[in-house]
Amino acid sequence: MADPIFEPLKFKNLTVKNRIFRSNIAGRLDNYDGSGNQARINWEVKFARGGVGAMMSSFVPVQIRGRIMPNYATIDCDERIPFWRRLGEAVHAYDCKYILQLSHGGRQRDIGGIEYPVGLSSTDKRDPMHGFECERMTTAQIKETVTAFAEGARRAREAGLDGVELHGANGYLITQFLSSAINDRSDEYGGSLENRARFVIEIVKAIRARVGTDFHLQMKISATEYNNALLKTEPPGNTIADSIQVCRWLVDAGVDSIHVSTGSSFPHPKNPAGSDLPIDSLVSTYDSMISSGALTFRNFLLFHGSLTGELFRHQWLDAGVPKDEIEGVNLPDARAIKQAVAVPVLCTGGFQTASVIRSAISRGDCDAVSIARPLVANNDLVQQFAAGRDRAAAPCTYCNKCLVNVVENPIGCYEQSRFPSREEMVRQIMSVFDPPPFA
Ligand SMILES: Cc1cc2nc3c(=O)[nH]c(=O)nc-3n(C[C@H](O)[C@H](O)[C@H](O)COP(=O)(O)O)c2cc1C
Ligand code: SF4
Repeated sequence: MADPIFEPLKFKNLTVKNRIFRSNIAGRLDNYDGSGNQARINWEVKFARGGVGAMMSSFVPVQIRGRIMPNYATIDCDERIPFWRRLGEAVHAYDCKYILQLSHGGRQRDIGGIEYPVGLSSTDKRDPMHGFECERMTTAQIKETVTAFAEGARRAREAGLDGVELHGANGYLITQFLSSAINDRSDEYGGSLENRARFVIEIVKAIRARVGTDFHLQMKISATEYNNALLKTEPPGNTIADSIQVCRWLVDAGVDSIHVSTGSSFPHPKNPAGSDLPIDSLVSTYDSMISSGALTFRNFLLFHGSLTGELFRHQWLDAGVPKDEIEGVNLPDARAIKQAVAVPVLCTGGFQTASVIRSAISRGDCDAVSIARPLVANNDLVQQFAAGRDRAAAPCTYCNKCLVNVVENPIGCYEQSRFPSREEMVRQIMSVFDPPPFA
């Protein structure tokens, strides 16, 4: 019998050669102004060469005000199109498809940059974890942002990419509208689920009007928000039942696939679910965020204190996922959504074992999986599966050191136990600069 992992997956407007998608992975690889860099192309080529059928890009801001960190390539103007075309061509050389993630951070901005000190949101309340400041969007700003998403999709299409994904998950701007825990508006964009979904549905319709019906469009959604997982006094946020309804509306409006994630913020104790919270690494990088929010300096001191740091680590892990349940953590939500919509469903969260992935697809929990950290650890995981291995010899430990390094250091695997030496780990991290930028 054919291996379900290596069966092509057909969407309405796109066919992918296998069922392993590289999930979105941001990293500070580009230029401050949002122009792309050769290092980003080198990074993406590693995964294409390793055999994934398709890749979802990093967080790509549709407006400068929507970025979460400088040095992420943007798609906010036509000048960015040639870079994305170059990147797409490099990836296509390995028969790998490329789906650009149209993104807007809203109030959730780790380092906002010099142009716009304050973010935009559905609300004017700061986020409860870092205290990021924000302004409540006016109707005019909402309309302008909807247009920016549509223009981003048009640019991705002109760049020859294979589709776009709306970043509607993990606490960014679209979640800030969808979420019953965050959205406190009393106009037509707040209140009922239908009103909270209005922003994203307008984006989908605007994209379809701009690029037509024959270009792949998918949505990443936090199917269950668990908004009170860590901060117990907060409201819980959207449930799977809410998200099923939103997915139905999205598909009716023209979305071709749903990518299932979780959590009302990023990071969240359940996403990416960790076997640990590397508090020492967190202290050494969180300093770069100290001036970003009203609570960031407090948090830095909290993480820094040996007792308080340890307490926070325990609270974070208690609110997370037991280590042996990380792989496939979102499958129940994916299955519930798949039963409700007629388009293919992708599921993210912990996948790195061929037999687990095979069973999930065969059972009908999802049509394909998306993988981030285990592919950072083993870029060639798909080739290893093709060769008959069930798991890599040195699998991802879910330590989340890659995650906490992302605000300050180059993206890569920072789990020293996976390498023969620290020097070898650093050599592999720095290999993203080879060939060098502007070579
Ligand atoms: C370093 C890092 C950067 C990430 N960047 C993004 C991003 O830009 N956009 C996004 O939607 N998800 C992002 N994620 C989430 C992943 O795409 C993925 O959904 C999540 O890590 C769970 O999958 P995994 O267990 O395979 O890592 C990131 C995760 C990590 C660890
Ligand atoms: S640092 Fe490496 S081992 Fe740890 S979670 Fe990231 S990819 Fe996995």
